[in-house]
Amino acid sequence: MPAATGDLSLTECESLFLKGLTHIMRKKVTIVGSGNVGATAAHWIASKELADVVLIDIIEGVPQGKGLDLLEAMPVAKCDSHIIGTNDYKDTANSDIVVITAGIPRKPGMSRDDLLNTNYNIMKAVVGEVVRHSPNCILIIVSNPLDAMAQAAFKLSGFPRERVIGMAGVLDSARFRAFIADELKVSVENVTAFVLGGHGDTMVPLGRYSTVAGIPITELIEKSKLEALIQRTRDGGAEIVKYLKTGSAYYAPSAATAEMVEAILKDKKKILPCAAYLEGEYGIRGLFIGVPVKLGTKGIEQIVEIKLTPEEKAGLDKSANAVKELCGVIGV
Ligand code: LAC
Repeated sequence: MPAATGDLSLTECESLFLKGLTHIMRKKVTIVGSGNVGATAAHWIASKELADVVLIDIIEGVPQGKGLDLLEAMPVAKCDSHIIGTNDYKDTANSDIVVITAGIPRKPGMSRDDLLNTNYNIMKAVVGEVVRHSPNCILIIVSNPLDAMAQAAFKLSGFPRERVIGMAGVLDSARFRAFIADELKVSVENVTAFVLGGHGDTMVPLGRYSTVAGIPITELIEKSKLEALIQRTRDGGAEIVKYLKTGSAYYAPSAATAEMVEAILKDKKKILPCAAYLEGEYGIRGLFIGVPVKLGTKGIEQIVEIKLTPEEKAGLDKSANAVKELCGVIGV
């Protein structure tokens, strides 16, 4: 005869308690924008069982439909992440992380910068709501033009800089890694790569800091070939837009976002290239730009300063100037 509390057996009590505990401990990630990037980010995050996911959009029905579809995939994926779609920011309350993907994507012939004013207006509408309902969250910005949108979100939120992070370096580095692995016919797991600077035509892929099993790629790939891979990385987003015609890439951008979410929620202290607000690091002040950072529970826990050659530093400065110009246009 099990010891009983009211009508429940001890085992039932224990199981209810454990259920409650799991619920309390479970993390919550909101994704603003239920388009391809947002929905696919929800997919990666839920299927890695990183958190419960709230998908929010102004379009009625789409976040609800995609959220429910994803929830129904969880038994097959053997994951207990809970997913909902909504149009109401109340459902996003107390999120640990809010990923902002809202905005229009570019079409063939457009640069990321052409999205500036439209996406800034969307950012203005979104960030206030996010902050009101999740004042302690960490913001990951994915909307383009990336660095300027991260700067806008930082200013609009009033959050400390460690809690506003732009996704782009992980994506650009992933592209570079894929091209290097393909060129050398080695596992992508062997390849590390670093792309710094803004997420635009002026980004700075660093061949010198990119390696295969610890060997610098500068020793493995001849100069002109490496230059071609670097240029393909710079044009990586445009290459996909040209194929898709009606939108931009989403598998790699959302996978990169999920890696950042994982590093934060699991407090991994992982060094990843992300857009961060610099306050003098790399000789740059008051601007978001892609640099290596350490991601953990607190968000950006360290900005890692690496030595750059004069040529690399010039590339970073050029990229920073391009970002500064965009920020100037929208006054952030
Ligand atoms: C890209 C867009 C999403 O690089 O910025 O594909």
